[in-house]
Amino acid sequence: MAGIDYLERIPNNVDLASNRRLQRALEEWQPRFLEWWRDMGPEGFQARDVYLRTAISVDAKGWAQFGYVKMPEYRWGIFLAEPETGRTIPFGDHKGRPVWQEVPGEYRGTLRRLIVTQGDTEPASVEQQRHLGRTCPSLYDLRNIFQVNVEEGRHLWAMVYLLQAYFGRDGREEAEGLLQRRSGDRDKPRILSAFNERTPHWLSYLMFTFFTDRDGKYQLACLAESGFDPLSRTCRFMLTEEAHHLFIGETGVSRVVQCTCELMREHKTDDVRKYGAIDLATMQRYLNFHYSVSLDLFGSEVSTNAANFYTMSLKGRFEETKKDDDHQLKNATYRVAMLQGERIVEKDEPALPSLNERVRDDYIADCQRGVDRWNRIIREHGIDVELRLPHRAFHRAIGAFSEVRVSPDGRVLSQAEWDAGKSRWLPTDEDEAFIESLMKPVIEPGKFASWIAPPARGINGRPVDFDYVRPA
Ligand SMILES: [Fe+2]
Ligand SMILES: [Fe+2]
Repeated sequence: MAGIDYLERIPNNVDLASNRRLQRALEEWQPRFLEWWRDMGPEGFQARDVYLRTAISVDAKGWAQFGYVKMPEYRWGIFLAEPETGRTIPFGDHKGRPVWQEVPGEYRGTLRRLIVTQGDTEPASVEQQRHLGRTCPSLYDLRNIFQVNVEEGRHLWAMVYLLQAYFGRDGREEAEGLLQRRSGDRDKPRILSAFNERTPHWLSYLMFTFFTDRDGKYQLACLAESGFDPLSRTCRFMLTEEAHHLFIGETGVSRVVQCTCELMREHKTDDVRKYGAIDLATMQRYLNFHYSVSLDLFGSEVSTNAANFYTMSLKGRFEETKKDDDHQLKNATYRVAMLQGERIVEKDEPALPSLNERVRDDYIADCQRGVDRWNRIIREHGIDVELRLPHRAFHRAIGAFSEVRVSPDGRVLSQAEWDAGKSRWLPTDEDEAFIESLMKPVIEPGKFASWIAPPARGINGRPVDFDYVRPA
């Protein structure tokens, strides 16, 4: 069961061959996906041999196989984690009953919406990143971004499989829609606003993989708890791929910090821009931006949708089964930061509508652990600066705090105070121009751009100067 059938046109471990109707539907979708990939996937590198990993089975040992692949020939397919025998629904009104193998009729629309919203982010990020290959800081980084891109493509396959297999005609239409919307397009934008932002350069991309892919991890983890078992199994396997994206973000930013600190120490200055590196104050502004935009992805602090998803047993909490409570939360409360006049206060609110905030809290703690590791590098260089996550109310566009201006340390500001501070807190046009000026491609194996340190080790035991992407 764990083995993946690569003889099929669509590699899968769901015995696709036994469902002719579904197989045909997916085979019809496949060329349109490839057309989308050629139009909107990594620009300028489609014919290159890239050292990529491909899943060969979904269990821990057989997971990955490495080899040179041309991206349009990547073996995208449908891989679900192994079913758990006797799995019961872990939360909500249906808690304790056997998990659903079919969509419960009354939740059809809601479940479809959840799947489409998740599915839409996957191709969106590929679109956002498609121009970055041309300015890669090294072949190692180039290979890594392509790995992320093909896996986001596979995550789209994962959601399209669910839509085509379980949602009939509506599902087929949604599967088309996922290929038709475009990141940043005025007429047909992607669903969530963070996925319509530009990813103009590599600093922004590394921050994105740290902060925004991490939102992805949390959304997938909540969906992995779902009472709808096919969704749960799909998300469980997607999470193993997502872990690598987070690794790229965390180590990528670490390497930028490392490079900056080495230059600061060597030249005894904070101003490393003249050495072609990114000063810590600028890094802090990009951190502020990507973190705040990613916090918005969790939704409003108080949300009936979140309560409904949970009560319907469709979307759980992060690590639902490890939490020690009744998993129904009808009478429970949760501490939520709220706006009270001009002050931000914490209040106990009913737990169900506060579920977005609860997941956001888990996410914030996870982000903080990564920032702590970056700060350790700074300290090890004897530098007395700390990178900080801004206050959760800073620069928000969704939820209670979207109505006010808040400083990174959590003070509610007047518009004038905000205007005066903004250029210290968020990337400026001048920052953008400077970062853009650093974006010169480095494609000699083992060489790295002036603003990023080499990684500690290569991919899959290969040396750092390995030919990760072969010349055309
Ligand atoms: Fe993804
Ligand atoms: Fe990802």
